[in-house]
Amino acid sequence: MGEKRKQNNQVRKNTLRAKLKKIFSKYHLSKKHSEICADYLIKAELVEAKSHGLTRLKMYCDRIKKKVINPKPKIKIKKISKSISLIDANDSIGFVAADLAIKQSIENAKKTGIGLVAVKNSGHYGLSGYYAEQAVKKNLITMIYTNAPPAVAPHGALKSLFGTNPICFGCPTGTKIPFILDTSISMINRGKIRVAARNNHKIPEGVALDKFGKITTDAKKALKGVQLPIAGFRGSGLAWMVDILSGVLTGGNHAGRVKDPFDDFSGPQNIGHLFITFKTDLFVKNYNTRIKDNIKTIKRLPKIKGIKEIVYPGQNKYNRFKMNSKKEIKISDIIKKDLEILQN
Ligand SMILES: NC(=O)c1ccc[n+]([C@@H]2O[C@H](COP(=O)([O-])OP(=O)(O)OC[C@H]3O[C@@H](n4cnc5c(N)ncnc54)[C@H](O)[C@@H]3O)[C@@H](O)[C@H]2O)c1
Repeated sequence: MGEKRKQNNQVRKNTLRAKLKKIFSKYHLSKKHSEICADYLIKAELVEAKSHGLTRLKMYCDRIKKKVINPKPKIKIKKISKSISLIDANDSIGFVAADLAIKQSIENAKKTGIGLVAVKNSGHYGLSGYYAEQAVKKNLITMIYTNAPPAVAPHGALKSLFGTNPICFGCPTGTKIPFILDTSISMINRGKIRVAARNNHKIPEGVALDKFGKITTDAKKALKGVQLPIAGFRGSGLAWMVDILSGVLTGGNHAGRVKDPFDDFSGPQNIGHLFITFKTDLFVKNYNTRIKDNIKTIKRLPKIKGIKEIVYPGQNKYNRFKMNSKKEIKISDIIKKDLEILQN
């Protein structure tokens, strides 16, 4: 069994968790912060968000080594009111800042009905949905924004400036499967292009232009060119909104000044995030009945050919997580090598 596992590059969750904790500790993160990072990376693998999982581990370690991620941050939480807090993450790894922020946002919302938490001086935090789930589990609605390094050209511009700036909305559904809409504003997320470039795979047509403004399916050329936003000027507008909410408003970098975590080691990223969390019973007392009715009505609609079920955002990820949690985690040869090198 051990030999078979080795051949297939499969690893048990607990073994992987221990390896990751060891790596982050070696890179001077505290035990608690190492656990936060390890748990996040495992979850990303289990929901099959490969582009936001272990494929980025080496990058985080490189950034710590080059002193552009602070492994021992002195994070400050400024209480602005009972509902509102500002976190200065002191260049921490993004997972740690975001984990603290969603917990603070939940705490504020539980006390006052709404929690609004801004974060500055943070880094790439991965999947917004990971943090949204924490709020939804506490029966809260949440909206989460983060900016990211330039990848997408604003509508009408010849140069990338917006990040793939994900927009995330989560709410309880009255069932154990949360509604989590967690989408980047680009046709494809940048991580997927990086994974394709790393594995010499092509990317779909119509998602990116090369540096000369020509449509390309070559992932490496796409990384040097620009990504296209969803829905033309509408997607561009949404990306701009996210840059304002998570960058301009929080004190984080904005207007294309977030550094690329893979290529630019000239300083910390100073990414900004915004977490909004609120109770479901602020305006109606029967939210659960109403949300169940809403989802049921939509799911009962006549379906187009080939569609068995109308799924709501988050359902697919939940199902993948449930299915993968029972199995060992598959890792590529590149990741296997990264894990070996980083541990020693
Ligand atoms: N931190 C960062 O800088 C950053 C930047 C970009 C993206 N991300 C993360 O990358 C992740 C992936 O983003 P993405 O845009 O590739 O996501 P995606 O295109 O895979 O999914 C977008 C949303 O659509 C939903 N969905 C998918 N198929 C569906 C279907 N058939 N019916 C109904 N809903 C469906 C998903 O549940 C999800 O909520 C997100 O978690 C995002 O937060 C992070």
